[in-house]
Amino acid sequence: MKKIGILTSGGDAPGMNCAIRAVVRTASGMGIDVVGIRRGFLGLYEKDIVSLNARSVSGIINRGGTILRTIRFPEFKQMDVQKVCFKNIQDAGIEGLVVIGGDGSSRGAHAFYSHFNVPVGFIPASIDNDVYGTEQTVGFDTAVNTALEAIDKIRDTATSHERIFVVEVMGREHGFLALEVAIAAGAEVVLIPERPLTIQQIIGILETDRMRGKISSLIVVAEGAGKAHLIAGEINKRMAGVEVRYCVLGYIQRGGIPTYQTRCLATILGSEVVKGLVEGEKCFMAGISGTKTVRVDLEKVVSSKIEISEEKIKLVEAMAI
Ligand code: ADP
Ligand code: F6P
Repeated sequence: MKKIGILTSGGDAPGMNCAIRAVVRTASGMGIDVVGIRRGFLGLYEKDIVSLNARSVSGIINRGGTILRTIRFPEFKQMDVQKVCFKNIQDAGIEGLVVIGGDGSSRGAHAFYSHFNVPVGFIPASIDNDVYGTEQTVGFDTAVNTALEAIDKIRDTATSHERIFVVEVMGREHGFLALEVAIAAGAEVVLIPERPLTIQQIIGILETDRMRGKISSLIVVAEGAGKAHLIAGEINKRMAGVEVRYCVLGYIQRGGIPTYQTRCLATILGSEVVKGLVEGEKCFMAGISGTKTVRVDLEKVVSSKIEISEEKIKLVEAMAI
């Protein structure tokens, strides 16, 4: 393999830069040229391609976001658009493509091999942790820690004012981020799309909290399970003698300095993806399973359903007594 192309796609995630750095330096160390494609699949369509070398990725290991920039480019699902991208890949002499992104981007990456036989290595990077075949996506650990830092501050007000707080976190249509945040923040209730609760059930838990002597309660809601302000409003309406407030954490969860865990994961997966391409892998994801780095067939990644842990949901309940 003489030349690798690399792009970041979908929502940015802390650690994407670490992954870019690892890919570029691993490839450069093997004598392989690397080009960066800017703004995801759109950059391939528009031929927005720049050369990268070991020095171009200096000083980015600690920076959130992505130096290659990223975009949502739904038009890429169209075959005529993909054909243009394939031609541009050929013109640029790219022999292998590294895609860094979330669940949607894994489908885009898969298309390059399934439609055009371009060898593809995928690095899962998303704050949602919603990619099948890897225990964690790059950026997830940082996002959880960012949310926890915010919630720890909210707790001060919650206890001082004896309030109920509803905190909304991201995660798209999944509750992986919310569940992990709920466990680590010590939430009384977690609301996730995979296990919906009625407003009556939520109020039942909050009333039990008060009977148990709790002076404040924390509800963590995944954006896919409901809107914090509506839930807070309903509780206010139906529960007498309590003050309810809400906070939407929003995009602060996407940015920031990557944690140690995120940096290491990104570096390991970035290095692995280049090794895989060089060893002749055609369409795979570099992921993590326990302490082991794994290569997973991208076909399996895009066709499998990812499940939430029932045990973790029960853990939130067990800790909230
Ligand atoms: P993420 O990768 O963070 O989940 P998106 O779901 O927005 O973000 O996906 C990122 C990009 O991947 C999309 O804008 C589109 O260009 C591409 N993509 C998503 N789904 C598909 C698909 N089914 N086929 C081809 N490309 C896709
Ligand atoms: O996929 C990451 C994510 O932050 C989701 O948690 C959220 O639903 C979505 O992206 C927001 O997307 P956008 O940046 O396009 O508003």
